[in-house]
Amino acid sequence: MQLERQLIAVRAALRNLRADGGTIAFVPTMGALHEGHLALIARARAVADHVVASIFVNPTQFGEGEDLDSYPRPEEADRAKLEEAGCDLLWAPTPDEIYPAGFSTSVRVSGVSEGLCGASRPGHFDGVALIVAKLFNQIAPDYALFGEKDYQQLALIRRMARDMDFDIEIIGVPTVREADGLALSSRNAYLTAEERSRAVALPDAMREAAAAIRGGESVSFAIIAAKARLFEAGFSAVDYIELRDAETLEPVETLERPARLLAAAQIGKTRLIDNIAVEMG
Ligand code: PAJ
Repeated sequence: MQLERQLIAVRAALRNLRADGGTIAFVPTMGALHEGHLALIARARAVADHVVASIFVNPTQFGEGEDLDSYPRPEEADRAKLEEAGCDLLWAPTPDEIYPAGFSTSVRVSGVSEGLCGASRPGHFDGVALIVAKLFNQIAPDYALFGEKDYQQLALIRRMARDMDFDIEIIGVPTVREADGLALSSRNAYLTAEERSRAVALPDAMREAAAAIRGGESVSFAIIAAKARLFEAGFSAVDYIELRDAETLEPVETLERPARLLAAAQIGKTRLIDNIAVEMG
């Protein structure tokens, strides 16, 4: 696997990769890689001839007081995992390479970026849209893969790619979970052993609420029950649990089209997110 840290060098590497006329699949990440990220790499290998990954802890998507400085950066372990998973090229730029002095452009995707995590993390999705737009211009892949784990992010990127005519097929990959159902996340590393054992209440409560809604239970009642369950399990705050249209992310009151139940909740110092499909039976 080739590693590049400068744009001029990654462009040269991409020219070499493309020389055989093969297609390129791209997997952007912030590192601290786990089986969820590696599922994206595996899918990338299956859809394209060459796989490019990026690792960049993007400062513009972190809010004040968030974990930018403490975000885990296990570089060597990440490199080994990518190499083993069959990644051909790793783009791991420095912040200066991405945001040189005087940088002054912003990217905003309205609608899908509002509400949910957009409400609890102001500016977060502007940072995501900006970095992903830049990475798409830098790599210009045929395919780009994103996890359903970050469902609102996936919806935003689909919308941005369509709106801005990026000639890139966006592929969503199902959430990879631990055996007990907790979604894999780089932030799970922040959980104490005690918090980790309680955290499973999040996927449990969501599965239960989804089943209740599918079974005809009122959406608001199912959500109130799910919130109660999280507080009982020791979560200190629930940012949101909401049912949204699976595509537009508009609020849903009765289940008529494919929907998604999305949640964010705080346990100890850690904020966890999850989401689950809710479709008519
Ligand atoms: P990061 O949190 O590192 O996630 C990189 C990709 O891995 C995202 O597409 C995310 O949805 C996916 N992913 C994370 N956990 C997963 C799981 N358990 N199962 C399946 N996929 C999972 O998301 C970001 O980085 C950044 O916002 C980024 C898009 C790279 C822009 O900076």
